[in-house]
Amino acid sequence: MHSGDIFVIQGGKPLRGSVTISGAKNAAVAILPATILAQGVCVIENVPQISDVQIMLEILQYLGAEVKSLNPHKYQIDTTHLRSQTVPQEMTKLLRASYYLIGAMLGRFGSAKVASPGGCDFGIRPIDQHLKGFELLGAEVSYEQNAIIEITADKLIGSQVYFDKVSVGATINVMLAAVKAEGLTVIENAAKEPHVVDLANFLNMMGADIWGAGTDTIKIRGNKPMRGCDYTIIPDQIEAGTYMIAAAATHGDVKVKNIISKHLESLTAKLKECGVQVEDGGDWCKVSAPNPFAGSHIKTGPHPGFPTDLQPQMTVLLSIASGNSSVTEGVWDNRFKYVGQLLLMGADISVNGQFASIEGVDALRSATIHADDLRAGAAMIIAGLVAQGVTRVEKVDHIDRGYEDVVEKFRKLGARIKRVSPEPARAASAG
Ligand code: UD1
Repeated sequence: MHSGDIFVIQGGKPLRGSVTISGAKNAAVAILPATILAQGVCVIENVPQISDVQIMLEILQYLGAEVKSLNPHKYQIDTTHLRSQTVPQEMTKLLRASYYLIGAMLGRFGSAKVASPGGCDFGIRPIDQHLKGFELLGAEVSYEQNAIIEITADKLIGSQVYFDKVSVGATINVMLAAVKAEGLTVIENAAKEPHVVDLANFLNMMGADIWGAGTDTIKIRGNKPMRGCDYTIIPDQIEAGTYMIAAAATHGDVKVKNIISKHLESLTAKLKECGVQVEDGGDWCKVSAPNPFAGSHIKTGPHPGFPTDLQPQMTVLLSIASGNSSVTEGVWDNRFKYVGQLLLMGADISVNGQFASIEGVDALRSATIHADDLRAGAAMIIAGLVAQGVTRVEKVDHIDRGYEDVVEKFRKLGARIKRVSPEPARAASAG
């Protein structure tokens, strides 16, 4: 993989066959920093091979963790000799989840100095709820936008933390610190995403005492001794959903394996509304779609609502559904930037703030387009697979952040997609 790689897609072919889903990105980027709390050796399995994970592992090594790859999806991480030190912006700007280092280091060392996080640009991405949670646990916070976030606590004390907004990041971050706080922490209005539950299960396996994860009240009895453990990360709900939507949008017939179908209920319901057939096998599903399929009206929201991280992919599907559809973005204030790319391909979509109205067109046409961010990038692949002709997708390093072997997985489903690296600069003539 090189920065500057593009994907070249010859579209118009239905996807057929089966695809196996990797471990969940958003669980992995929380569980890997959580190993900091173990002060011992953890073995983590089903780790997806994606660039966000590689960056998180590099940050852990920078902090002094010993990281050993036991196979491409299994890592042994020894955090015994970790040092508390500033995590610089060059590292944190590369991924949003770098902010989980704050909760984990605050829990382990009573202090953390971490530069502001990067990640996909969906408009303003505040971290006020994370910081409020740390303060309620007794920490002192010094933070200016885009600077080093400094947090210290003489002693973390369990507390009642009510979030004004449902936030995955704040729920996870406060859980990470609260397992080392004395007494009981109660998180109210907590996020219920599968990766929140996965992190809680991992922390419990390390010795923590957390219950209620997956509901909107999570309770944590803190200060339990934490030890290393072996843990297997759940399958990626968003990767699975992306292949399900791609299968439907190309009028294909695809078995998606290694999933937890319960995590995909909102998508399955919406696909069925469109007339797509989804057979549910528990840890697999089979998706096939008629031509044409019907439109639908989608509103994204926190779990168990329709995931915002499947919104761009679903918009591509709705752009070729019959009749009028709409998509309301209920989580982020600016997540329709990619629509401009779909307009280039002949889609009929008008966006007004967080609302998109879609008139289904018969077909998309090929174009040169780019990935604005990770999930928008996945949507661009689907658009390329749907369109007649050759589509070129640029800025695919966004996609590599969260999709393991994306080209190989789509090729195995019969897609005509290849990765093309930029030509190396011509060597200067020796003469
Ligand atoms: C995580 C996911 C991201 C997904 C999002 C929502 C990871 C690494 N990323 O992002 O892919 O799109 O959940 O499912 O897991 N908010 C505040 N104050 C805060 C924190 C958040 O106002 O302190 C707001 C945000 O602006 C947003 C909403 O809460 O409107 C949800 O954000 P949050 O759930 O925190 O998203 P992330 O954890 O950053």
